[in-house]
Amino acid sequence: MQDQKDRIVFRQLVRRESGCCTYLLGAADKGEFLLVDPLMDYERFLPAMDSTHSEARIEYVIDTHIHADHLSGVREICLMSGAKMMMHRSAPIPDNFTPLNDGEELNLGGLEVKVLHTPGHAPEHISLLVDKRFLLSGDTLLIRDVGRTDLGRGSNEELYQSLFERLVPLDDGVEVYPGHIGAQHFLSGELSSTIGIEKHLNPVLQLKSFGEFVQYMTEGWPPKPAYHELYVKVNQGLMGLDEAQGNLQKAAIGEA
Ligand SMILES: [Fe+2]
Repeated sequence: MQDQKDRIVFRQLVRRESGCCTYLLGAADKGEFLLVDPLMDYERFLPAMDSTHSEARIEYVIDTHIHADHLSGVREICLMSGAKMMMHRSAPIPDNFTPLNDGEELNLGGLEVKVLHTPGHAPEHISLLVDKRFLLSGDTLLIRDVGRTDLGRGSNEELYQSLFERLVPLDDGVEVYPGHIGAQHFLSGELSSTIGIEKHLNPVLQLKSFGEFVQYMTEGWPPKPAYHELYVKVNQGLMGLDEAQGNLQKAAIGEA
């Protein structure tokens, strides 16, 4: 009998120009898939489903948080695919979405996806623990860094708790897959890490007190992403693309 693990699809899809990471996961034999943090290039995800199932479909689409540095493709993909839009229940968006709760588990053709509310970078931020093996950490825990808290919706207190009370206690062998990698985000180009490696090598996880953490979070950060307030409004569904387009450089729209 084929082992359950053989049927799992887990793909990290990196937009090389921007270092934004989208994740596609599911059970190939059941044809049910989940997309996490997609951009707008829907057609890119279809071959990655790699399913033998005749009716392979994207069942759920999740944004880990309201992004401030690129345009989310969640609404468009849900519209095209009929998938359910999901976010943490506290997400301040007007859409009719399926609210996720901390600790809730989604079952995707036998694949277990556990929701961990990890606020700090943004209040509604969630991380997803997949099959107890892969952590989609969004912008809470990055490789050798953490998500910034100075874009208007962040909280140092919440990020500190999310990191040290929710993520650090996970097993050292849990693999970490972040929301961003690479130079565009002032990060290393490594694609993934583990909780154990980050505990040893991530400078933020070496800090000895909340005071040191606050100092780290408030000093020496690169410039804020251009148009971050506009991106938040569009990704919240509070401003249409057409309206935003007049304010965004064409290049920024093309990248997203
Ligand atoms: Fe973010």
